[in-house]
Amino acid sequence: MNKRPEWILPNLKKAQVRTKNTIERIDSFIIPENAKFIGNGKKYYISTYGCQANERDSETLAGILDSLGFEKSESPEDVDVILINTCAIRQNAEEKVLGEIGNFKRLYRANKDLVIGVCGCMAQEEGLVNTLLEKYPQVRLLFGTHNIHQLPEMLYSVMFEKKRVVKIYSKEGEVYENLPVHRFGKHKAWVNIMYGCDKFCTYCIVPYTRGKQRSRTMDQILFEVKELYDQGYKEITLLGQNVNAYGKDIDPNMNFACLLEEVAKIGIPRIRFTTSHPWDFSDDMIDVIAKYDNIMPFVHLPLQSGDDEILKRMGRRYTSDSYMELFNKIVTKIDRVAVSTDVIVGFPNESDEQFEHTLEIMEKCKFDNAFTFIFSPRPGTPAARMEDPIDFETKKERLARLNTLWNKYALEKNKAYEGKVVKVLVDGFSKKDDHVYSGYTDTNKLVNFTGENIQPGDFVDVLIETGKTFSLDGRVV
Ligand code: SAH
Ligand code: SF4
Ligand code: F3S
Repeated sequence: MNKRPEWILPNLKKAQVRTKNTIERIDSFIIPENAKFIGNGKKYYISTYGCQANERDSETLAGILDSLGFEKSESPEDVDVILINTCAIRQNAEEKVLGEIGNFKRLYRANKDLVIGVCGCMAQEEGLVNTLLEKYPQVRLLFGTHNIHQLPEMLYSVMFEKKRVVKIYSKEGEVYENLPVHRFGKHKAWVNIMYGCDKFCTYCIVPYTRGKQRSRTMDQILFEVKELYDQGYKEITLLGQNVNAYGKDIDPNMNFACLLEEVAKIGIPRIRFTTSHPWDFSDDMIDVIAKYDNIMPFVHLPLQSGDDEILKRMGRRYTSDSYMELFNKIVTKIDRVAVSTDVIVGFPNESDEQFEHTLEIMEKCKFDNAFTFIFSPRPGTPAARMEDPIDFETKKERLARLNTLWNKYALEKNKAYEGKVVKVLVDGFSKKDDHVYSGYTDTNKLVNFTGENIQPGDFVDVLIETGKTFSLDGRVV
């Protein structure tokens, strides 16, 4: 690889540093003169991996591309620009992305003017960027999570100066307000309330790829929510890696409970938020969720492990007891609440007994849903340097046992819905069958149902006939 002087490559050491510097908030988005209209008559395709933060970033990428004159396409064939917005959370996420970039080589061979760009969390990783630069000549543009606002000038350089552009800042600089947005959902919208993460759980790459925690101001968030309300959106999800820590970086007196209450008052029918770290989940938050009908009775509360020593080595700063205490408070105080979780099995040197502790807590909580993962060492993180004599087969067996257990309880919970009528916000036709509609309950249960004259964005009452492990089946009444 020929490193060019103008390339700005990522650096994990720099990404780890946290300073007290105040964050600049930039309100304007100016397209450089030479980049205006560069997309006229041209099309783009965006492929998105990873979490909702990435989904929302893709909406900004699309918004910027629209403002340059490009038109969005649903397929990568015959487009002029392809952006792949990537996720680095686990190795298998990365492998999928590399597979897709490999497939796009065919399109690049057929059209050497095609701009293939890679952005998102994988672009923040040193090793990976080197691989992309060396082995994937079809990638003409690489930019990081802190460089999105520079897309117009970067595209100009690739398209008209025929440069290979690499611009990846390791450190967050500013919070950009008012970047254009092309929302992909017509009745559901994402709203960022904060960027980055300072928790540094020892297994996790996010604090390195997304930078330090930067909350948006309450005024900006409420303004955006009000706008979505005026546009008729039915559901919004407030986004942050750890929403409970909202505001602490701006003013120690500011908190998520306060924000959530103000958002609820605007009157959007459904409000969700993700993710809640058990560490700073306050009683005030529970009270606000319980108080407002338009804050959905659904909490995603990642457990990660049920063993105290593992939790300590993960840097999670709670114990299995304090998790249970919080869990019990949530289910007691919030009527009909559903709770989901994330669990990692096979953390370095996790013993059978430690894994059993996770099963024990899963038995107690009987979660509605769970996202379960085998630990994946992320280069540069402390857990990746921990000794790990546990073989992969054992980890796979643990994952299977864990899944069998939570599936059993999820099915039980969903069976309890049989015979009940639930309110569903309609998404559209079900993925599998276009005579069947699908949507979600307030408790975030996926419902597939039949009915007449139904439009996406409608609220309908559905009688649940069958509860299954991952969904409910029913008909409109
Ligand atoms: N901010 C959220 C999590 C975001 S990542 C939180 O703290 O809850 C989503 C999930 O991916 C995590 O909850 C964790 O269960 C899983 N995860 C993160 N890093 C991982 C790794 N290195 N290996 C396996 N799973 C991981
Ligand atoms: Fe990762 Fe922990 Fe931050 Fe969640 S809270 S994003 S798991 S470091
Ligand atoms: Fe993946 Fe980055 Fe989100 S690593 S989970 S896309 S913050």
